[in-house]
Amino acid sequence: FALAMHLAFLILTLFLGQILGQNTVTQEHGPVMVKQGQPFQTTCKYQTSINALLWYQLREGQAPELLSYQSGPGPRHSGRFTTDLNTTGKYSVLRVEEVEVSDSACYLCAVQDTLVQGAS
Ligand SMILES: *[C@@H]1O[C@H](CO)[C@@H](O)[C@H](O)[C@H]1NC(C)=O
Repeated sequence: FALAMHLAFLILTLFLGQILGQNTVTQEHGPVMVKQGQPFQTTCKYQTSINALLWYQLREGQAPELLSYQSGPGPRHSGRFTTDLNTTGKYSVLRVEEVEVSDSACYLCAVQDTLVQGAS
């Protein structure tokens, strides 16, 4: 992922149309620029029922970091990040109240599909 950083600005690159298994996950397309200290939020939508929704932070030259693993609805705080899963509306919002330059990253959402168990 190409990542450019500008003084006092953040570039948050987002993913569009992740397809994992049979569940289609859609994110807003980026990059998005946010000034330091400003809020940022992005939404991830999915199609079918899930076991869990995961948010990863991908920073250049670093291993992907799992920001949040959420299997139940409602807000979940993880450091300065808040993720809010709505299982009715089938979406999750990743939110930062005051962005810092170190937040410059790709934010990737992924879902863990429910396992369909066959009856015999
Ligand atoms: C979840 O999403 C549904 C459908 O979009 C909406 O009606 C409902 O208000 C949302 N719930 C919360 C807690 O935001």
